[in-house]
Amino acid sequence: MQQSFPQPSFTLAGQTAIVTGGSSGIGAGIAHVLAAAGANVAVNYSRNSAGADKVVRQISEQGCRAVAIQADVSSEQDVARMFDQTVRRFGTVDILVSNAGLQQDATLAEMTLEQWNRVIGINLTGAFLCARAATREFRRRGMVIERSAALGKIIFISSVHETIPWAGHANYAASKGGLMLLMKSIAQELGPQGIRVNSVAPGAVKTPINRAAWETPEAEADLLRLIPRRRVGETADIAKAVLWLASDDSDYVHGTSLVVDGGMTLYPGFATGG
Ligand code: BGC
Repeated sequence: MQQSFPQPSFTLAGQTAIVTGGSSGIGAGIAHVLAAAGANVAVNYSRNSAGADKVVRQISEQGCRAVAIQADVSSEQDVARMFDQTVRRFGTVDILVSNAGLQQDATLAEMTLEQWNRVIGINLTGAFLCARAATREFRRRGMVIERSAALGKIIFISSVHETIPWAGHANYAASKGGLMLLMKSIAQELGPQGIRVNSVAPGAVKTPINRAAWETPEAEADLLRLIPRRRVGETADIAKAVLWLASDDSDYVHGTSLVVDGGMTLYPGFATGG
C-alpha cells in the first residue's frame, strides 16, 4: 500500500475555541496560541475583566478574532450563558479548553469546607459543566469535515497532581485526580461519537498561581530540584501542547494525559536515592 506522509499543519482555521480562565497565566497563553493558529477564541474570565480585555486586544491586534466572556465555571447558568454567547458570536464551538482552576491551600486539619468546595467547584465541577455544554453544542452542530476530523475536541488542563500526591493541597490534588478519571470516562463514552477528549498535565509553570514557588532565587532553586529538565515551565510550553491536541495532527490521540512537566513526574528524588 502506498503511504503518503503529509506535513503537520497545526491549523485551526475557521474553528472556534472557548478557553476558560483565559485572562491570565496558562489560559492566556493558550488563547494567544490558538488564535495565532486561526481559531476564533472566547476568552473566559470570572473576575479579571482587565486581563481578559488585554488578551482580546492583543489577539485582535494580530488580526485574529477573540471576545471576552464573563462566567463562573462552577455555575450551571453561567456556563450555559457562556456557550450561548460564543455560539451567537462565532456560530458554534469546536474546541473546549477547560483551563480555569485555582488553589486554596491548607493542611487537612485547617482546611475549611469552603476551601474544599471552592476548589472542587471550579477545578472539577466546572470541568464537568463545560464538557457537558461543549458536548451538547458539538452534537447540535453536527460534523463539518472540512473544518476538523472530529465532531469536537475537549482538552482539560489538569496537573502533575492528578498523579502526584500533594500534602497541604488535598483539595487541589483531589480535584485533579478526579479530573483525570472524568477525562478518561468521558473519552470512553464520547469517542464513538467523534468527540476527542484529552488532558494536558502541566508541572511547575511560571504563573500567578505558584508565584511563591519561583519568585525568589532560593525558592526557584528549591523548585528546580524537583524538575530534571532544570527550568521552570513557561506558558508557551503548555500552549503548544494544547494546540497540537486541538488540531487534527493529533487525531488518533484520545483519552490521554499529555504530561508537560520537565520530568517532574520522574520521581527526581530517586536520581540519587533508592
Ligand atoms: C500547581 C502549581 C505547582 C505545580 C507543580 C500545579 O498544578 O498549580 O502551584 O507549582 O503544579 O507542583
